[in-house]
Amino acid sequence: MTLPRILITRALFPEVVDHLSQHFEVEANQADALWSPAELAERLQDKEGALTTGTQRIDAALLAACPQLKVVANMAVGYNNFDVAAMTAAGVQGTNTPDVLTETTADFGFALLMATARRMAEGERLLRAGQWTQWRYDLLAGAEVHGSTLGILGMGRIGQGIARRGAHGFGMQVIYHNRSRLDPAAEAECRAQYVSKEELLRQADHLVLVLPYTAESHHAIGAAELAQMKPTATLVNIARGGIVDDAALAQALRERRIAAAGLDVFEGEPQVHPDLLTVPNVVLTPHIASATIPTRRAMADLAADNLIAFFDGRGALTPVNRIG
Ligand code: DGY
Repeated sequence: MTLPRILITRALFPEVVDHLSQHFEVEANQADALWSPAELAERLQDKEGALTTGTQRIDAALLAACPQLKVVANMAVGYNNFDVAAMTAAGVQGTNTPDVLTETTADFGFALLMATARRMAEGERLLRAGQWTQWRYDLLAGAEVHGSTLGILGMGRIGQGIARRGAHGFGMQVIYHNRSRLDPAAEAECRAQYVSKEELLRQADHLVLVLPYTAESHHAIGAAELAQMKPTATLVNIARGGIVDDAALAQALRERRIAAAGLDVFEGEPQVHPDLLTVPNVVLTPHIASATIPTRRAMADLAADNLIAFFDGRGALTPVNRIG
């Protein structure tokens, strides 16, 4: 019996590669080479399936070069690397990894909020540089977290996880804005109040971005939005680069038009806007919000199970488009 051929585009847990090898003829990139779009197309052209991460773009040009491709399983909940319309038109099933990373990512969002508001990275840099000479009443005094107003832009599963942590754990007043309002039961569970985007920007002491990246959310936070925020506010982005205008943010941070930012994602990552590297009041992390071993393993398993279920004829478990 010939097995379907699949490509695993980035290094992956060896156990998951072994598991997939029982179901497929697998080409795996365990050396983690960073392929150009042309190299990716060349390796994919004889494959029926692929397991990708958010770093490979699946677009019309790639699909045209890979006519045998039937399914692409993204090991990420976000799938802005997919041109979903082009995939649907080509009859290619896309899948993602929702739910399995919700709580881990919400933990990280809250940790980044804390680190940003309480100036932890600045403190560590000062200490390591040997510049900590004495206790002082206002040394790296930051913003209050407990009892403050937590704003959330994008109230999906992860946004709700952050809201629960803020409301139940830290006694925060939670306000949110989202394309659609939560049902009353979900609002009550998160103790969250729906407000307009303008109100959110104006009222939040800490604003956390958890919305998907789309053409509409491109630069959802730019100079105009930053100007509406409190000068004491912090901004946290664990969603996607491109939602924030990083150049405008660096300028706002330098001019102290907002107090601080915590960023796990960047426009054009892994490159980081050079101005962000020189302002002190920003905490920078390399897109690790879902990075615990159990969660990354659950994401890999779900991506693998999507491929297996698709080729078994059961249908994708967590599809992002509807085909044929
Ligand atoms: C996701 O799942 O979307 C995370 O950002 C990892 O890419």
